[in-house]
Amino acid sequence: MNTQKLLQSLYEEPYFKVVKKFNGGKKSLKKKFYNFATNLGHTVSQNKNHKKIVEIKPDINKILNLKKKNKKIKSVLRYHQTNLGGSIHSDGPQLSSPPKFIIMACESNSLTGGDTILVNTLKIYNYLKKKKPDILKILKKNFYFERRGFNYSGKNVFSKPIFLKSKKKFLFRYLRDYIEKGYEIKKKKLNKNQTFAFNYLDKLLSNRKFIKKTKLSKGDLVILNNHILAHGRTTFKIDKQRNTRKLFRIWIN
Ligand SMILES: [Fe+2]
Repeated sequence: MNTQKLLQSLYEEPYFKVVKKFNGGKKSLKKKFYNFATNLGHTVSQNKNHKKIVEIKPDINKILNLKKKNKKIKSVLRYHQTNLGGSIHSDGPQLSSPPKFIIMACESNSLTGGDTILVNTLKIYNYLKKKKPDILKILKKNFYFERRGFNYSGKNVFSKPIFLKSKKKFLFRYLRDYIEKGYEIKKKKLNKNQTFAFNYLDKLLSNRKFIKKTKLSKGDLVILNNHILAHGRTTFKIDKQRNTRKLFRIWIN
């Protein structure tokens, strides 16, 4: 596979590529995946332990513990540690420069659910510009984001816009749970118009007009432009006994 051609293709619609049976069904998916990703660009740390390859699978013990304590999973765990669907988002919104590309390789998938959802936010931007400029104006302003999962010594909240667009750059940065937590930490409240804008955006993020869906099987890989596409998944069951959904993820800049 020509890596330059592959990267170039991620700047054109549909801004992602699925490679079926990436490792030809052999066992060494993780290693082959890591080698492939490091050839494409600079790998980015994904947490405070500087992990460059992260497993996306539900942390069953933590989930059960939180449930026991009646605590909300969403406000504590990172999305990739849960089995929840929805919450269409971009990766690394808590980083000054979110990764340009995300690559995910599938080790196993759940029988039902666990579909990958990819959303074209450039189309959403253009839709808002035409139909709802007032909402777009709000989403181009700064919001607090919790910088979850990293150590920023006391500065675990920063403010950034959801849509950033200039002649040369387009960047969509959004993970609603981190924003809501950011406001909680700052002891501030999102106003009515901001909440309305988020609700409207969430609706568009799950509108069929802007979405492509794909289901990864064992050995498949997806690479996507994280500045233009938002992503998420459908809810899936966690099952301690059987193989649950498990992907490897690498961020590339
Ligand atoms: Fe993600």
